[in-house]
Amino acid sequence: MNDIFLKACRGEEVNYTPVWLMRQAGRYLPEYQAIRSNVDFLTLCKNPQLAAEVTLQPVDILGVDAAILFSDILIPLEPMGMRLEFSDREGPVLSEPIRSKTAVEKLIIPDVEGDLPFILDTIRILRKALEQKVPLIGFAGAPFTLATYMIEGGTSKNFLHTKKMMFQNGQVFHYLMEKITDMLISYLSSQVKAGAQAVQIFDSWAGVLTPTDYKKFAFPYAKKVISEIKKEQVPVIYFVNDCAGILKEVKHAGADVVSVDWRVDLSDAIKRLGKKVTVQGNLDPCALFLPKDKLEERVKDILWKGETARGHIVNLGHGVLPQTPVENVIAMVEAVHTYGMRM
Ligand code: CP3
Repeated sequence: MNDIFLKACRGEEVNYTPVWLMRQAGRYLPEYQAIRSNVDFLTLCKNPQLAAEVTLQPVDILGVDAAILFSDILIPLEPMGMRLEFSDREGPVLSEPIRSKTAVEKLIIPDVEGDLPFILDTIRILRKALEQKVPLIGFAGAPFTLATYMIEGGTSKNFLHTKKMMFQNGQVFHYLMEKITDMLISYLSSQVKAGAQAVQIFDSWAGVLTPTDYKKFAFPYAKKVISEIKKEQVPVIYFVNDCAGILKEVKHAGADVVSVDWRVDLSDAIKRLGKKVTVQGNLDPCALFLPKDKLEERVKDILWKGETARGHIVNLGHGVLPQTPVENVIAMVEAVHTYGMRM
């Protein structure tokens, strides 16, 4: 197996810089669209054969150095007792958002084997299929990011319901965060026991908080999940979108790898994160719409800046956009492999 990605996570010597992309499986791939034309998104997530097939598509098409389980951060919210739908227009919809203590009390901590067996089955299929290829990354949403979906009932602009709960009903908010944290510890440990070789925790919305609020309302819970999962002896990656204002805190979350978005200069991020973590990132997803020579320049710039870190994994600063031309993604992966080679 090509274990260069795992080595980079641990800060070990590598002979080239590894690369994978957030949302590398998905709508920009015609092969994904072909499968999605027959099944809806949730059915696809819950069918281990199909979910495994979709996970493998980018490994073969792009030649990336890691696979990420095909699923969604919102999947464990269903067995917690929430009704989840994905609409093509609106994205995820949770029709009965959590706004009270009673609602939090009713939330169930799922039994992963019994309630989410398809996740573990998909991981088992994938480990066999990937034996001679690349490592498999499991994942979950970070506590704060999941809380926003649960409280808002879907995607949000100002996160007003979430912040109102934080500011007006702090006890209820912390109670909710504790429940999500317990769920995540059991969910991610189960993924590792089933075969996930690293895990990524997605904090897509942590950047909407003031640094002080991040420290108080989000950070302690993310840190707890990370420290518990590290006991499983796999690298933990913490992705924080819009991280520039909170890197000082993020540094202390305990992750082996910090994944940073494109709004921060990679050299600055590395300086602020220090020598004890590997960094992942941080190409603007829209850079994949540049002409090839300009895209290569940006890849080289990131590779060069990444040299100063303990370890560097190239990725985007957020997920691949559905409109992205596949040939540009292939060109990006090739550029990383060409220019990131050590002599
Ligand atoms: O990275 C991968 O290739 C693995 C699969 C993966 C998906 N979602 C598949 C997906 C992963 C890791 C996620 C994580 C996820 N899901 C996050 C964190 C990362 C981020 O983007 O910030 C979040 C916030 C979600 C919630 C979510 N899922 C939204 C807001 C949406 C709708 C918007 C959109 O991009 O479509 C989804 C749907 C979703 N998740 C799709 C895919 C492939 C599209 C579904 C379809 O086929 O129609």
